[in-house]
Amino acid sequence: MEEVKVLINQEKIEERLDELADQIMRDYGDEEIIVLCILKGALFFTVDLTKRIKNKMIYDFMKVSSYGNSKSTTGEVKIIQDAKLDFYDKNVLIVEDIVDSGYTMDFMKKYLEMRKAKSVKIAAMLSKPERREVEVKIDYLGFEIPNKFIVGYGLDNEEYLRNLPYIGYIE
Ligand code: IMP
Ligand code: MG
Repeated sequence: MEEVKVLINQEKIEERLDELADQIMRDYGDEEIIVLCILKGALFFTVDLTKRIKNKMIYDFMKVSSYGNSKSTTGEVKIIQDAKLDFYDKNVLIVEDIVDSGYTMDFMKKYLEMRKAKSVKIAAMLSKPERREVEVKIDYLGFEIPNKFIVGYGLDNEEYLRNLPYIGYIE
């Protein structure tokens, strides 16, 4: 069993969540938001972030994969489970765990534009800029991190370790 080291502790996560939620509330004003959580990794981030946001909101969930079960991306994004809501003319806030190559968020943005959302923004807890292969604009970013394999706070290593309450890494 590999040892997990702490990269970002719970206190730092919570501080950042407060800041991001304030920024989101300022930007959206009194607009309604559809929060689109990308399963499974963004689950913890979605819950903790949106509990702090007072806007009228509804949730939907999508499962996409660009990763399979390996630790390197394939560039091909597949919809494993589609959302249920009609996004036409809605403000959609995509909530993602981590932007790595950028393929997943690039795909998601185009997908929602195709479904004629009024606005599409991205909130990502983490970003590994060194790994980027396609440019994506992250509207609300938790933390920029080095190129390490992250686990915890929703992120998995072959489905395990999501329940760690902090952001960790394994070497
Ligand atoms: P992208 O399409 O390469 O940007 O991949 C993003 C997806 O890859 C994320 O939603 C994660 O599921 C997964 N991923 C990327 N880096 C990590 C990591 O360090 N740990 C766990 N999952 C990761
Ligand atoms: Mg994911």
